[in-house]
Amino acid sequence: MNDKDYEDFISTVSHELRTPLTSIKGFSETMLASWDKIDDESKKKFLKIITEQSNRLINLVENMLSITKLQNTNTNLILKEVNIKPVIEMTASIIKNQYSDKNFVIEIQASTPPILADKDKFQQIMTNLMENAAKYGDLNSTIYIKTHFNVDMVFIDVTNHGIEIKEEDYEKIFTKFSRIDNPLTRKVQGSGLGLFIIKNLTEKMGGKISVKSENNMTTFEVSLPAANIERQAREKCSQ
Ligand SMILES: Nc1ncnc2c1ncn2[C@@H]1O[C@H](COP(=O)(O)OP(=O)(O)O)[C@@H](O)[C@H]1O
Ligand SMILES: [Mg+2]
Repeated sequence: MNDKDYEDFISTVSHELRTPLTSIKGFSETMLASWDKIDDESKKKFLKIITEQSNRLINLVENMLSITKLQNTNTNLILKEVNIKPVIEMTASIIKNQYSDKNFVIEIQASTPPILADKDKFQQIMTNLMENAAKYGDLNSTIYIKTHFNVDMVFIDVTNHGIEIKEEDYEKIFTKFSRIDNPLTRKVQGSGLGLFIIKNLTEKMGGKISVKSENNMTTFEVSLPAANIERQAREKCSQ
């Protein structure tokens, strides 16, 4: 990281950490100070906000750690066979908890092979993509997660309805700290690091990521190597 990047990084991180921390502090203090005056309904609401904001902090810290680790070329990835369905379903239910107006439709193609990936990193990729889809998607809209595969790769498409990304910005959004300036992104929090991390992790695992945005729909497609026998056999032959 050069000095400018480092400064950007620190100021973005501080801002991103301060917002959830402020609300966690505020709601806990209010509850402590006025415990007897607050009804159960409100207490529950406050605790829900505290939980959501804590989750946001956890994701954030995970992303921060990734950024520093991505600098080292030999990030330790533990590649194993990963069954994508349970990871996708769990991630969707976590994001759904934080963005309850969104609907999730998951369609995993029958007989999808496992992928060869680092399970935690794969989950981080899915979390960042689904969080974007929820964050930038229209209110009360549906997010579709669909998969298909061929002999080599498994493809995962995450689609949301909402403001489009212009073709001229397709590359830019995958770079460090880049956010598109529009009324929507000004309204929602972000560090501009999510897609940069996703792209790095995906490519380190031998995959690709691309975006297509038209007719008020945005699809991010991640492909990762299928862990199938034919592939392993072919790789053995070429060694
Ligand atoms: N699903 C999406 N729909 C519209 N714009 C998106 C979507 N996902 C990402 N973007 C745009 O790409 C930018 C970079 O995304 P990301 O790297 O995840 O950073 P962040 O979400 O922290 O802003 C966002 O600020 C937003 O402008
Ligand atoms: Mg993001």
